[in-house]
Amino acid sequence: MRTPIVIGNWKMNGTLGEARSLAAGIRDGLKQPVGAEMVVCPPFTALPAVGEILAQSPVGLGAQNCHWDASGAHTGEISAPMLLDLGARTILLGHSERRHELGEPDELINKKVRAVLAHGATPVLCVGETEEERRQGLTFTTIEGQLRAGLSGVASEEIARVMLAYEPVWAIGTGLNATPAQAAEVHGYLRGLISELASPEVAQGLRIIYGGSVRPENAGTLAEQPEIDGALVGGASLSAKNFLAIARSAARDGGSRGN
Ligand code: PGA
Repeated sequence: MRTPIVIGNWKMNGTLGEARSLAAGIRDGLKQPVGAEMVVCPPFTALPAVGEILAQSPVGLGAQNCHWDASGAHTGEISAPMLLDLGARTILLGHSERRHELGEPDELINKKVRAVLAHGATPVLCVGETEEERRQGLTFTTIEGQLRAGLSGVASEEIARVMLAYEPVWAIGTGLNATPAQAAEVHGYLRGLISELASPEVAQGLRIIYGGSVRPENAGTLAEQPEIDGALVGGASLSAKNFLAIARSAARDGGSRGN
């Protein structure tokens, strides 16, 4: 059974004061249970403060990236054990902004996925095609390549601990979202690949969330697709009200999927 999950990716937004007030807004808006799991990924600098504010709430703490080594001479980097130490249990990896702005290749993302698993946290492996790749009919080739490379050398029972996020690059921060049918088609394809790489049972249990201009207005129709297990939310997660509305929509159809 797959419980819907909504993850807020705050990206490079928020001074400490802003992060505190956003976290408090989410916590205070949660007087009634939402029915979906919720995680927020603030900037590294705000992790301790946000973790403290959300400690007594059902909202989990996550991070936006990490290094593959546990420690060492890697100037400017942060490791999985450091994040776990701050309470972050979910780590985004291979986000398209890192793939495209910073040139993160699949091999490096794979090292990170394996490191995060080895340290007992949950990697959220992000995959997605560019506008040009979709136009050229390369959507499935692209995401298949990213998925296979990202999970290379990961054992079946470890794949069961991974979460996938399908984020078409052309939909991120653009206001253009994939239609529920477009997203569901890719999610179904990814699930088929997981079935092959691990097993049908692992594929049935693994959560695949959608990201790319998710807002309160479109979250409900996306969530109606049985293949879509939740959302990775960027811009709209910077408003507590919108983030909570998206989480409620993700849970609206009664929650768990799979069999
Ligand atoms: P967006 O970002 O919701 O602002 O499109 C999503 C993401 O990049 O995770």
